[in-house]
Amino acid sequence: MSIETLFANRTENIKPSAIRTIFALLKRPGIISFAGGWPDPALFPVDELRDVTDHVLATDSANALQYGGTGGDDRLLRFLRERLNRVYGMAVNADQIMITSGSQQGIFLTDTLLLDPGDAIVVEAPTFVGAFGGMQTFEADIVEVEMDANGLDTEALERVLQERKVKVVYTIPEFQNPSGRTMSLARRRRLVELAEQYDFVILEDAPYSDLRYEGVPMPPIYTLDTNGRTFYLGSFSKTLAPQRVGWIVAPAKVIRKMTFLKMAMDVCTPTLTQAIFAEFCERGLLDTHIETLKAAYGKKRKTMLGALDRFMPAGVEWTNPQGGMFVWVTLPKEMDAEKIFHAALEENVAFVIGSAFYADSENAPKNVFRLNFVTPSEEKIVEGLQRLGKVIHEYAN
Ligand SMILES: Cc1ncc(COP(=O)(O)O)c(C=O)c1O
Repeated sequence: MSIETLFANRTENIKPSAIRTIFALLKRPGIISFAGGWPDPALFPVDELRDVTDHVLATDSANALQYGGTGGDDRLLRFLRERLNRVYGMAVNADQIMITSGSQQGIFLTDTLLLDPGDAIVVEAPTFVGAFGGMQTFEADIVEVEMDANGLDTEALERVLQERKVKVVYTIPEFQNPSGRTMSLARRRRLVELAEQYDFVILEDAPYSDLRYEGVPMPPIYTLDTNGRTFYLGSFSKTLAPQRVGWIVAPAKVIRKMTFLKMAMDVCTPTLTQAIFAEFCERGLLDTHIETLKAAYGKKRKTMLGALDRFMPAGVEWTNPQGGMFVWVTLPKEMDAEKIFHAALEENVAFVIGSAFYADSENAPKNVFRLNFVTPSEEKIVEGLQRLGKVIHEYAN
């Protein structure tokens, strides 16, 4: 018997991403990896979390170890509503927010709620690969729209909208994964107009927004949209630890329905983790920790941009992210990032090949790749880019 014959048809398109394959290679000793989307483990606030965890278990174990409500921990929700208002000017009622098991689940819940087979969902090209799985599970038609230095190209989007019905536009407006680009204010406004005119939902994924190292803060698309068409996703993964706690802000009717959907998936996000995060936040430690991360990651960003300047041959270009974790590198047209990837691996340096971030990776550009500048130490950033520069030089000659 072949068990695969019993798999549902919809699972046919779901394949492990190139990133997963790369992770297997990253266990090598001594490798300098610019590949993952991981926070710097040296900066996890371990002492504070130990103290907070002890406190939670000592004072509230009956709740913290019990099942919890599907919508999330009340203290955590209260904190998030207050912070979203204070930092981003988002007015969020209690029935407009719920906790998710990471923003990954927020994406999946949105897909579950909105996508029928064949529905079109627009993504930025390139985009976060983890978003594809849910879209494929619901057999959506993933439509790529190009970006430029100002983020999603809304003119190109409008050309798509004139041709076909689109249900959702998925965007990462700030310090985008993988490109590091930020959507301009004019584009944000235009996107909101288009959503109203062409009747679609904007899924705004903002896990990096708190990590801005330069430039002026931008209003979330959510705050520009007075029509209630934007769902906003946030996460603790990049600012505290990727322990599967995120949140979604959306119209009350959406949250109500999503609560039922989440109940079917996992009943609730682990209550102990939520209680620990709530206590951590209520003690004022989140904002302090974000400042620590901004100082450290901002320095690493400078180090990487400086090392790129120093070690990359002429003809190689890269983005200048104002925040987040990633720089997107474009090699001269004739160069193949996959070949560079294998040669770099010989030198114990890793990155993610850019074509992995496209829905249509067969037809994606072959000369691009992503570098993470927050996980390695500054010393390793310089050493890794020196080695990578040498590899690219050798290919260029
Ligand atoms: C743009 C984007 N969205 C969502 C996620 C998933 O984050 P979480 O750990 O909150 O599920 C990531 C993680 O890398 C990401 O880059």
